[in-house]
Amino acid sequence: VRISRFRLWDLSRVLEIERAVFGAGAYSRGMFLELYRDCGGLFFVAKCSGRIAGYVVTCAGRKKAEIVSVAVRPDRRGRGIGGALMANTLQALEDTAVERVELTVRTTNQAAIRFYRGFGFVSGPVASGYYEDGEDGLRMWRQITAKAEKTHRNPRRRP
Ligand SMILES: CC(C)(COP(=O)(O)OP(=O)(O)OC[C@H]1O[C@@H](n2cnc3c(N)ncnc32)[C@H](O)[C@@H]1OP(=O)(O)O)[C@@H](O)C(=O)NCCC(=O)NCCS
Repeated sequence: VRISRFRLWDLSRVLEIERAVFGAGAYSRGMFLELYRDCGGLFFVAKCSGRIAGYVVTCAGRKKAEIVSVAVRPDRRGRGIGGALMANTLQALEDTAVERVELTVRTTNQAAIRFYRGFGFVSGPVASGYYEDGEDGLRMWRQITAKAEKTHRNPRRRP
C-alpha cells in the first residue's frame, strides 16, 4: 500500500469508491472539490499496485480536526489499507498544532467503530438523528500529541 496526497486526477476513482461504499449517501463531485480546496493537506489516497483502493479526508482547524470521511473498496478491506490511511493522517496531525481529532460515525457501523477504537478513539455523545435518514451518530475523539511536545517531555527517548 502506498499513501499519497489526493490529486485532482484521482477524483473519478475516489468518486467510484465513494458511490460503491456509501450509495445514496455518497458525497458529490462538488463536495470532494470543496474538500480538496479547503482540506487538501489532509486528503490522502491509498494505492495498491498503482490503483486507488481507499481514501481519507480530514479538515483541521487551529486546535481541532474532524475526520470527514474514510473508505476502502469493499473487496480490499481487512488488509491494512484503512489502517495505513488512518496512521498517515494521525502522523500528519502530529506535525500541526491540532490537539484533538474528532469524527461522527453511525451507531450501527460497528466495523468502523472498532476500527476507530483500535486507533485510540473513545466514544463521546450520541447525536440523535444526525444523519439524513434519521440514524444516530456517535461522536468519537482522540487526543493528538505534537511531536515537538513529546520530545520535550521525554528528552531521553530521543533517538
Ligand atoms: C472502516 C474501514 C475504512 C476499515 O478499512 P480496512 O482497510 O478494512 O481496515 P484495516 O484492514 O486497516 O483494519 C484495521 C483495524 O480496524 C479494525 N477493523 C477493520 N474492519 C473491521 C471489522 N469489519 N470488524 C472489526 N474490526 C475491524 C481491526 O481492528 C483492524 O485491525 P486488524 O487488521 O489488526 O484486525 C472500511 O471497513 C470501510 O471502508 N468501511 C466502509 C466505510 C465506512 O464505514 N467508513 C467510516 C464511516 S464514518
